[in-house]
Amino acid sequence: MENFIYYTPTKVIFGKDEEKKVGELVKEFGAKKVLIHYGGGSAVRSGLIDRVKKSLSEEGISYIELGGVKPNPRLSLIYEGIKLAKENGVDFVLAVGGGSVIDSAKGIGYGIANPEIEDVWDLYIGKAKTKKCAPVGVVLTIAAAGSEMSGGSVVTKEDEQLKRSYNTDNARPKFAIMNPELTYTLPKYQIACGIVDIMMHTMERYFSPVGNLEITDRVAEGLLRTMIKYGKLSLENPENYEARAEIMWAGSLAHNGLTGCGGIGDWATHQLEHDLGGVYDIAHGAGLAAIWGSWARYVYKENPERFSKFAENVFEIEKVGTVEEIAIKGIEAMENFYKEIEMPISISETGINLSDDDVLMLAEKCSNNGTRFIGAFKKLYKDDMAKIYSMAR
Ligand code: NZQ
Ligand code: ZN
Repeated sequence: MENFIYYTPTKVIFGKDEEKKVGELVKEFGAKKVLIHYGGGSAVRSGLIDRVKKSLSEEGISYIELGGVKPNPRLSLIYEGIKLAKENGVDFVLAVGGGSVIDSAKGIGYGIANPEIEDVWDLYIGKAKTKKCAPVGVVLTIAAAGSEMSGGSVVTKEDEQLKRSYNTDNARPKFAIMNPELTYTLPKYQIACGIVDIMMHTMERYFSPVGNLEITDRVAEGLLRTMIKYGKLSLENPENYEARAEIMWAGSLAHNGLTGCGGIGDWATHQLEHDLGGVYDIAHGAGLAAIWGSWARYVYKENPERFSKFAENVFEIEKVGTVEEIAIKGIEAMENFYKEIEMPISISETGINLSDDDVLMLAEKCSNNGTRFIGAFKKLYKDDMAKIYSMAR
């Protein structure tokens, strides 16, 4: 087991009607002026934004608002949010939405807390560093990205079609209100994308070069099994509270660090997907599903035992045949699950047909023009990236 730090400062308030407490919570964390940040309209249409405003008003907290966050959140809106926040003396950013809204809120939080950094994008491309972020709170409306407890913020710079992340503990939200009922209005496609992302956050850590870790592996396997069971149930009946609750909590546990304690995360599928999403603007979960199988087939020989353990403990594949055969059956079982929940298992199924030039362009971007490798289970360089994009076409 590798040394590790497990730090999850986010206060979680989970269950029915808990969004009513948002005013109280914002006050508890010392906010004087709040920026309510939200997406393209679902939270307005459901009446959630009105309820949030009412709760803030009841606690005497003043606020301004900025909606319009798009999935794969754009840097330009973050610039707008920073300007607005500075003009209005905002000291707390309240994200009402999913990963995109939360990540945009964190971007604005960096801008507020670091006036000396001229361009907040510099953080995302490694040109600047900071430990400061203005406090962010969350009312979560979709179980997926895990940003409600993570330190990550993933942002797209539109003119360069570049999606990059920045991660610090100070960007971890102060609180996250999670009412599974708020997810009832999600389209099935978004539910499925969320299921993939939650599972992938677990698998990125499970396929670690460190080897067997009993407690961490068991937590991860339990989480994946829970997602398979309740993922299907939540798609069958989106108003199945127990299913939505299991998934919502799994989404946070999958990405708050718990399933990686003592291991070294791989994250190659995520990096490959981020460049696909940056250029073609597809849903993160769908992109991950489209790439994972090709990544797995490309790397499994590094440690087939790990993949066969996954096959046996997650999908109950019988121990018949060679370790490699069992490993492949596990990869197939995962892909079959993706198919069952109507997620793509190739890039063309997302409507994107990559030419050879496109493949090279993506590999160029993902490798930062050949200057970085990705992955830990197996280190992947530009040529490897191109091969995986090509296999996934
Ligand atoms: O914009 P609105 O109208 O709200 O619609 C959203 C959006 O179209 C809709 N939605 C959300 N809650 C809803 C709802 N529709 C109806 N009812 C509700 N209750 O769902 C769509 C997707 O929302 P989004 O926030 O983009 O989804 P998700 O939570 O999957 O976030 C994806 C983003 O998070 C990043 C991804 O790269 C992507 O940009 N990630 C962030 C991470 C982090 N910060 O730690 C880690 C992840 O690996 C991921 O990379
Ligand atoms: Zn993800």
